[in-house]
Amino acid sequence: MDAINQHGNIAKRGDLPETMRALVQRSHHGPSDLVLTHHRRPTARPGDYLIRVGAAGVNFADVMQSRGTYGNGPTPPYVAGFEAAGEIVGVGRDVEDPLPIGTHVIGAGPGAFAEYLVMPHHGVLTVPSGWSDAAALGMVLNWATALAALRPLGEIEAGETVLVHAAGGGVGQAAVRLARHYGARVVATASPAKHDAVRTLGADEVLDSTRPDLAEALTQVTDGVDLVLESVGRDTFGTSLAATKPFTGRVIVFGDSSGSAALTTHDLVFTCQVQVKGLHIGALAVSAPALYRSLVSELRTLIEDGVYPPGTPETHPLGEGPAVLRDLETRRTRGKHALDPSR
Ligand SMILES: NC(=O)c1ccc[n+]([C@@H]2O[C@H](COP(=O)([O-])OP(=O)(O)OC[C@H]3O[C@@H](n4cnc5c(N)ncnc54)[C@H](OP(=O)(O)O)[C@@H]3O)[C@@H](O)[C@H]2O)c1
Repeated sequence: MDAINQHGNIAKRGDLPETMRALVQRSHHGPSDLVLTHHRRPTARPGDYLIRVGAAGVNFADVMQSRGTYGNGPTPPYVAGFEAAGEIVGVGRDVEDPLPIGTHVIGAGPGAFAEYLVMPHHGVLTVPSGWSDAAALGMVLNWATALAALRPLGEIEAGETVLVHAAGGGVGQAAVRLARHYGARVVATASPAKHDAVRTLGADEVLDSTRPDLAEALTQVTDGVDLVLESVGRDTFGTSLAATKPFTGRVIVFGDSSGSAALTTHDLVFTCQVQVKGLHIGALAVSAPALYRSLVSELRTLIEDGVYPPGTPETHPLGEGPAVLRDLETRRTRGKHALDPSR
């Protein structure tokens, strides 16, 4: 049963607690400054859904945020986390054609490492039928990002060569699968412990991302790549530009896991004569809603066709979040990791 609460929002009848368990970042000194605590439960603002979180995704952005190096992030203290899937338990005003209370959705919104989260309605996707909340993690931040980078921005064509950095990570794994699906040849980089997994996904060549002569190694497996998915930044950006075909080659920049590359490689953008495009999937959902809807619809088709299988993240109790983030930061994790706020 639904009810209108005192804020004019639709809320699920029944008791929603005033407080919730949450991982709060106390200062920007990294994952160890994340503490499990009780925090006031958020309420849906206009344009938002209130979600009871079933599973929260752990992403490299969380590591960067914990050190204060992720874009215009919040000032501590704040509830950490960017990605969650769960059940709609409240709907703010001004949501056009709202999804019914009880619908399971996946989306991105700050404050995901908690029992409840508010999510802007424009980026929310419904969890595919028969999938658990945890299985749906990755639809937005991993798969939609990889799809946007390859298709509308990267304009990938069958037979082209794509360079995918950090191919053992969440976006990287999705990108390898998708690039192969669209008929591209995939040259991937990853640290050695992840090579077997990346090969299994279908990469044609896998190179050690940590080797100092990566640029030289690339010239031995390709005479120029058509498209680069660049999320590592300082350690690879120059190599990426140099490996890209002049005039026709595209570099899609969507992350800087090793730090910002701007100062060292700015001049290479014009000397290498490549097209560099930026991507932020959360901003895209707001600034280009029609494009975002078309990505979602393409994702649905990929799911129906079995190209995109349900995810199988390794799930941890909420309180283990700091340890999982430390492992992510030191490159010890494999595959997707999730936190379960009910544990
Ligand atoms: N713009 C957007 O919309 C958007 C959306 C999602 C993600 N992102 C960005 O994309 C990147 C990957 O995200 P993700 O969620 O897929 O991360 P993830 O699953 O945590 O994987 C991160 C990968 O980065 C690599 N890595 C970590 N530290 C590194 C370093 N110092 N130098 C080089 N590589 C390093 C690791 O690969 P190896 O150990 O194999 O090298 C790891 O597999 C992040 O920078 C994230 O911020 C951007």
